Amino acid sequence: MIAVLLSLQRLDVPITMSSPFDLTNESAYQQWREQKLAQAPRAIEELIVDVRDPRALSEAEHGALMQRIRRCNMAIYASAAHEEDSSIPRLLGRQFGLDHLDANWLADEDGVSEIQVSGGTRSGFIPYTDRPIKWHTDGYYNPPRRMIRAMVLHCVRSAATGGENRLMDHEMIYLLLRDAEPDFIRALSAEDAMIIPERTDEDGVARAAQSGPVFSLDEKGALHMRYTARTRSIEWKQDEPTLAAVAFLDELLATDSPCIFRARLEPGMGLLCNNVLHDRAGFSDDPGHPRLLYRARYYDRIAGM
Ligand SMILES: [Fe+2]
Repeated sequence: MIAVLLSLQRLDVPITMSSPFDLTNESAYQQWREQKLAQAPRAIEELIVDVRDPRALSEAEHGALMQRIRRCNMAIYASAAHEEDSSIPRLLGRQFGLDHLDANWLADEDGVSEIQVSGGTRSGFIPYTDRPIKWHTDGYYNPPRRMIRAMVLHCVRSAATGGENRLMDHEMIYLLLRDAEPDFIRALSAEDAMIIPERTDEDGVARAAQSGPVFSLDEKGALHMRYTARTRSIEWKQDEPTLAAVAFLDELLATDSPCIFRARLEPGMGLLCNNVLHDRAGFSDDPGHPRLLYRARYYDRIAGM
């Protein structure tokens, strides 16, 4: 019992015996696992919902998106909203209880980032280039009080070629890791599993070092994942269980797993998700018509799960 309490406290969750994410509660896990696998989408088409206007969804459109999100923490909408209007992700998010935007210093004043090939300061950050971005969850370098729980990515213009995203439900990753070896979960839930070293600029420390777990639970018991496949600017705890878990995860993400979806967002399409794991392929722009995506990141998790 003492061990159970300690591990729950370390994960900073309410003491409940019914969490499927409690390693000591095998029956709750098995029940959750069975349902998760039975509901899991098997093709990207199952995630896509046609909507008239993402800024003002009908009840049926909202329900169809929620149905996907409950199954796999993500949904893709397709609409005719092609115009440059950064209120689109904010107004969409609001309909799903997403109110608290993470306005990072590269975001515009309304808290929405315009992801496009940019010059100046932004060009030092991969999202603002045409280069590929490895698997990650958004805001993995944020401190815990700025944990990114949900995200909207809306496409205004797609690239001439490339720019696809791969997507994977972080709960499915948890499931596959735990099935393979429960010690992987234990290792990746440690507070010191992953360290992002400080970032410095000409003025000194621009971001303090961040140490934290890959898997954690929020106050309501929802699973959160913090991860990057980058090998630079990241330090993994140098012990056997952590390194074995990271190696397993790397291999899993390099496979053709049916749980990994591939999508290319076209104009008017967008991704709404509980910060699932994703990457981005490199791309090339038509200079007169450069790729533009709006990105909104939230401290909230999608409501009504
Ligand atoms: Fe991202």
